[in-house]
Amino acid sequence: MSRMRVAGKPVPHESARGHVTGEALYTDDLVLRFPNVLHAWPVLAPHAHALVKSLDISPALSQSGVVTVLTAADVPGEGDSGSNRHDEPLFPAEVMYHHQPVVWVLGETLEAARLGAERVLVEYEPLPAILTIEDAIAAGSFLSGPFKLADGDVSGIEASPLYFEGELIIGGQEHFYLETHCAIAWRDETGGVAAHSSTQHPAEAQEVISRVLGIPRSRVAVECLRMGGAFGGKEVQSNPWVAIAALGTWKTGRPVRVRLTRALDFALTGKRHPFLACYSAGFDQDGRLQGVRISYYSDGGWSLDLSEPILWRALFHSDNTYKLPNVELTGSICRTHKTSQTAFRGFGGPQGMLVIEEILDQAARRLSLPPEVVRERNFYREGDCTHYGQLVKDADRIETIWQHLKISSEFDRRRKEIERFNEHHVHHKRGLAITPVKFGISFTAQFFNQAGALVLIYRDGSVQVNHGGTEMGQGLHTKIQQIAADGLGVPLEAVRVMPTRTDKVPNTSATAASAGTDLNGAAVADACRQLCVRLNEVAAGLPEGTSFAQVCEAAYRKRVPLFAQGYYRTPDIHFDPKAGRGKPFHYFAYAAAVSEVEIDGFTGEYRLLRTDILEDVGESVSPIVDLGQVEGGFIQGVGWLTLEELVWNAQGHLATAGASTYKLPSWSEIPEVFNVDFLERAADPTVVMGSKAVGEPPLMLAISVREAIRDAVAAFGDGGPLTFASPATPERVFFAVQAARTAKAIATPIKEVMRQ
Ligand code: MTE
Ligand code: MOS
Repeated sequence: MSRMRVAGKPVPHESARGHVTGEALYTDDLVLRFPNVLHAWPVLAPHAHALVKSLDISPALSQSGVVTVLTAADVPGEGDSGSNRHDEPLFPAEVMYHHQPVVWVLGETLEAARLGAERVLVEYEPLPAILTIEDAIAAGSFLSGPFKLADGDVSGIEASPLYFEGELIIGGQEHFYLETHCAIAWRDETGGVAAHSSTQHPAEAQEVISRVLGIPRSRVAVECLRMGGAFGGKEVQSNPWVAIAALGTWKTGRPVRVRLTRALDFALTGKRHPFLACYSAGFDQDGRLQGVRISYYSDGGWSLDLSEPILWRALFHSDNTYKLPNVELTGSICRTHKTSQTAFRGFGGPQGMLVIEEILDQAARRLSLPPEVVRERNFYREGDCTHYGQLVKDADRIETIWQHLKISSEFDRRRKEIERFNEHHVHHKRGLAITPVKFGISFTAQFFNQAGALVLIYRDGSVQVNHGGTEMGQGLHTKIQQIAADGLGVPLEAVRVMPTRTDKVPNTSATAASAGTDLNGAAVADACRQLCVRLNEVAAGLPEGTSFAQVCEAAYRKRVPLFAQGYYRTPDIHFDPKAGRGKPFHYFAYAAAVSEVEIDGFTGEYRLLRTDILEDVGESVSPIVDLGQVEGGFIQGVGWLTLEELVWNAQGHLATAGASTYKLPSWSEIPEVFNVDFLERAADPTVVMGSKAVGEPPLMLAISVREAIRDAVAAFGDGGPLTFASPATPERVFFAVQAARTAKAIATPIKEVMRQ
């Protein structure tokens, strides 16, 4: 059989045509297949924190079109959909966040369900609500922690030639996937339950349904066709909706659809964790870090969700690409009366990396050194270990990427040009920054790092691939298709990737941690290898030039099985959280970005003039897909750091719950010049096809934009240290410019005195 490599070729996304023609279906499109479907609508609590004193559903039942109201009394199993801690009651007796669903109304139409929900009578006893990290700390309201990760000895850092302390407030982020949460459940002919769910984790949806209904998992089947974006927001946050749909169908015998409107999705689902970081750091005269202490407080919201591994990832990524000689990191998860904050692209990594970049820039400006020089001086070198004892594999790539990018972006020339521009412009200033990324690839919970696949070949040589990963637009299925085509030596068109189903591959992990291709791709490759061995044996007895289809037919007649299961587990990863030591990551993905901005001093508005990115994707399986991931991830990061601001009012109501009040990046935020390149000759032989994960790492390249804004703000003053909370919205930038100008006004006479 001939080898016709399709991996590494720039093929379009396998659903690209369907995405633009509208033929690609999403969970809610499937509702048309269920003519007698019931629609669900929640009764929403009007308090951030309250006790449910009494509940009267009877007025709702007299609403025409209302079929039933789901309450705690309907739950045959455990009435909870919480991941890990089981701390998310479906029908709460104590309301824990504003808008929390208290009961659910099922109607013949959505309209009937909504009218019914308005008629449900609930009496609440409002309680005081904790709405900020500061209030949670003051009240001792924590979901978990403190966790600690330390290395070396920080006791002497106060005596360093440069020592300073500071605080950074980091805002959260709404996922704003285009497709809001959706699930449809129905009874199968055996009395079990089947569901379509827009979820990154069908196996957990299955687990939650079985738990809520009190039936074995074998009686539950969950399918995810594709998602219209997820970004971490459908890793566990999809659980309650599929649980309600399953419970509804269990009670009524009819299919039930739960779909959140945009407003509901905003109000009910978790976001990226806001963080507060308090730090102290010591440096020598040349900007070399002597030691650093950071205390993180994340805003976990009302339940635990994935807050622990997210916090751990912040601790793991507090080094970014820098050797932290002496370090003490602690982290606590605050319980507040808000939505339960959750996974979001980067999974805590971005927050940890933002803090160390903040510290390095502060140090550089205090020492009157260019920030890029201070960054470079602190890079990991070959042979260095992280603060948790993992060898930094391929550490030389940090410097290689950095130098390549400085040249390709003409960094030094533009620095001078910008200086000249700034000298000649009083009210507009430009800023330039280069920042690196090192992102650890693997789930930090070891057992998640496994994947299965089931590859079927039919007698005509056509192929179906089932694997445990889900497609959310990131192009996993495209890469799998390419890997399977190469694995079997067939053209791309011969391979069909099937919707993700729990009855094809069991006990799967969420598609997350950017490891979708690494894990599922390797499992598919394993299955293909087994099939090739069998087919090659058959082909050996056939004339030269026999087609793949003919070999398959011959194999069938010889009673050789034409299907195989594949399996993969990431080798040699482990971490001991008590000791804070181990090798939690299989490898690191590296990258760097250079960004240039221009700020309008009158308004604080900025324009992103140019961004250059160099990303280490190993040997790309699918260059167009990877390019899309880098561009999209970067822009999503720009949104997080410069535009998107979540505002909760004093009652704990999310005031920014729609695209009208929550500013998302759009075409106008894409840099006017945008160059993305991949590091060459970068194959990693320990990963499937030599490729590296690309889903999350590019998001953190947006830190270059925050730093470029800081650089431009500093140019309004004397270039000295300055800070502002994240996101750097135009308002914050405006006030930072005012502060920088004032600092200059104060600083100038002092300098003059010194000169005399
Ligand atoms: N890209 C698109 N288009 N849509 C998404 O929802 N999710 C991101 C990233 N890229 C996402 C995306 C997140 S949070 C992760 S972890 C990875 O894709 C998951 O997919 P992978 O493991 O296949 O890279
Ligand atoms: Mo991504 S935050 O790991 O789903």
